[in-house]
Amino acid sequence: MAQGFDLNNQRREWSRPPIGGANTDSHVLDTMTNPQVREWVERNWPLQYGQPSSWQGKYRKALQLDETFDMRVLDYGAGFGFDALSYALNNNSVALADISPSNLRAATRVLLAMEFIPSEIIVVRDGWPHFNAQPFDIFHSSGVLHHTPYFREVLQRASMLLSPWGEIRLMLYTDHMWRLATGQEPPPMDVPPWTNSEFPRFVRFCDAVGDYADWYSVEKVNHFVGDFLTVTNWEYLREDNGYAVVTLKRSRL
Ligand SMILES: C[S@@+](CC[C@H](N)C(=O)[O-])C[C@H]1O[C@@H](n2cnc3c(N)ncnc32)[C@H](O)[C@@H]1O
Repeated sequence: MAQGFDLNNQRREWSRPPIGGANTDSHVLDTMTNPQVREWVERNWPLQYGQPSSWQGKYRKALQLDETFDMRVLDYGAGFGFDALSYALNNNSVALADISPSNLRAATRVLLAMEFIPSEIIVVRDGWPHFNAQPFDIFHSSGVLHHTPYFREVLQRASMLLSPWGEIRLMLYTDHMWRLATGQEPPPMDVPPWTNSEFPRFVRFCDAVGDYADWYSVEKVNHFVGDFLTVTNWEYLREDNGYAVVTLKRSRL
């Protein structure tokens, strides 16, 4: 296990993924009937994708949620599965992956209630290979990979399973987020963030749950995965540039 990172604790903490920015216990769907889950989705959809969380529609656009059709998508860190549902609505097949079994159950309930069946349901493990999955065309991971010290390893694994024409889409915290949270410059990119005295402040500023977070920039993404992935787009979402979406393609086939 990487120093400063306890996956079981993360599992517990992250069983309250965000809906419209508010952390919500994923067990909330356990006792609902399918029509009730459907109603819950319809009620929460505008919270997840309306203002302020969609940043004038930039979120869905940067992640190409409305422009992806007939692909095999893996939603890594699916939470309640709203992005997965967005893909499913456009005739993509969607596999769900998460560290939290209760989130996977909730995301599955969301898809089933809307009459879609996930192609796979994958519990993410600690350590290599992190996950097993059928090959996919899109590796989608929104608000997730800054919460693990295994950024490089997870993307190495993803690129092994990614089709040659496939794409990786990530939503990440940026160096600007570190500055906003701490008022200081982020630690150098090759220094583990938890060794910095501002780390706890950064983690809690970004999210109400979880005990691990890191920051990324184009340079830092290249530093960690530039030997096998190429950045094809980088787009800030918020006016303060605290979140960005990066898309990547395999550079070595
Ligand atoms: C901030 S939420 C984002 C959920 C969803 N992608 C969304 O955009 O609403 C983070 C999600 O990633 C999951 N997660 C956290 N660390 C993870 C890891 N190392 N591997 C896979 N999933 C992880 C959490 O359980 C949670 O469901």
